[in-house]
Amino acid sequence: MRLPGLIDPHVHLREPGATHKEDWDTGTAAALAGGFTLVLAMPNTQPPVADRATLDRATALAAPKAHCDYAQFLGAGPDNAAEAAACAADAAGLKLYLDQTYGPLRLDEMSLWKAHFAAWPQDRPLVAHAEGRTLAAAILMSALTDRPLHLAHVATREEILLIRAAKERGLKITCEVTPHHLFLTEADLSGGWGEVRPRLATQRDVDALWANLDVIDCFATDHAPHTAAEKAGENPPPGFPGLETALPLFLTAVHEGRLTLEDLVARMYTNVRRIFKLPEQPETWVEVDLDATAEITAQTMQTRAAWTPFEGRKVRGVVRQVILRGEAAFEDGRVTAPQGYGRRIR
Ligand code: NCD
Ligand code: ZN
Ligand code: ZN
Repeated sequence: MRLPGLIDPHVHLREPGATHKEDWDTGTAAALAGGFTLVLAMPNTQPPVADRATLDRATALAAPKAHCDYAQFLGAGPDNAAEAAACAADAAGLKLYLDQTYGPLRLDEMSLWKAHFAAWPQDRPLVAHAEGRTLAAAILMSALTDRPLHLAHVATREEILLIRAAKERGLKITCEVTPHHLFLTEADLSGGWGEVRPRLATQRDVDALWANLDVIDCFATDHAPHTAAEKAGENPPPGFPGLETALPLFLTAVHEGRLTLEDLVARMYTNVRRIFKLPEQPETWVEVDLDATAEITAQTMQTRAAWTPFEGRKVRGVVRQVILRGEAAFEDGRVTAPQGYGRRIR
C-alpha cells in the first residue's frame, strides 16, 4: 500500500544545544523510519531560535546533516515580534509558548501575545502551545485579531469541545493531536516516564478526542526526545519520542476500524500541507505493509532517546520503504538517504 510522504508539523530535534538527546542526523533518520519525509522543527533549542542569527545558525547545522526535508520554526519572545516577522518567509512558522513546558520560551502577559498576533504576517503559520483556559484565551486573541491560529497538541475533552465550538462559529482555528494523547492515559506510565506537556489525561478525555475526530485537523508527534537517564532521574524533563511509533499506531487503529486510511492521510499529509502552506515533494511516497505485525521496541529505533512510551505494544502495519524525490531514503529497516540529502523547504 502506497501513502504520500508524511509530514510532521511538530518535532524537537534538539540541535543546537542538546545533541545528547537528538540532532539533525538522528532526528531526521527517525522521521524517515517513521514514514515522514518532511518535518517542521520547533524553536525551543539552546539557544532558542528567535531571530535571524539563531535561525541561520540552526539551519546551517541542519543542512549538512538532515536526511529528510525540513523547515525551522521561530519562537516568540518578549521583545522579538518585529524581528521574527521579518524572518517569516524563511521559517516554518511562529511558535508561541503560552504555558510552562520544556525550555525557556514562554510568554505570560497577554499584551506580549498580542504584539506577535499583530506583527506576524496573516498568511504565515502561527502555532500556540496553550492548555485549558490559556487555550480559550488564545482562541479569543485569534478572534479579536481575525487571524488564523493552529493549536498544538490538544489533549483534553474540554479543549476539543471548545475548539469544536470555535470552528462552528467560523473562527480561524485549526488543531493537532499527538499519538500519545490518543493511545495513552495517565494510568499507563509512572514517574518521570509519564512526564509530558500537556499531561496525559483520563480515559474520558481520550474517548472525547476520538469522538471528535472530525475536529482534529492534524496528527503531530510532538517528538520530544529526552534520554532514558534523564527520564529516570531527578527533575525528569517532559516529552516523549514519537516519530517512529506514530504511523504503526495509526495503521493499527485503521486495522481495528477506529480510523480510515483517508482519515489518516488527511491528518498526516493533506491538511498539514494546507495549514502550513508546504510545497509538494515530487516523486515521494511511503510503502507500508498493512498486514505485517510487529512489536514496538526502542532497540531498533534511530532516535537518540533510546526509549519509547509504547515499548512492547503490538502493532499491525509496518513501513517497508520510503522514496524521497525519486530515491530510496529508507529500506529494509535502514536509512539509505545520506546526511545532507534533506532539503530546507523554506
Ligand atoms: C516538549 C519538549 O521537550 O521540547 N515537551 C513536551 O512535553 N511536549 C515541549 C513542548 O512541546 O511543549
Ligand atoms: Zn508544547
Ligand atoms: Zn512540542
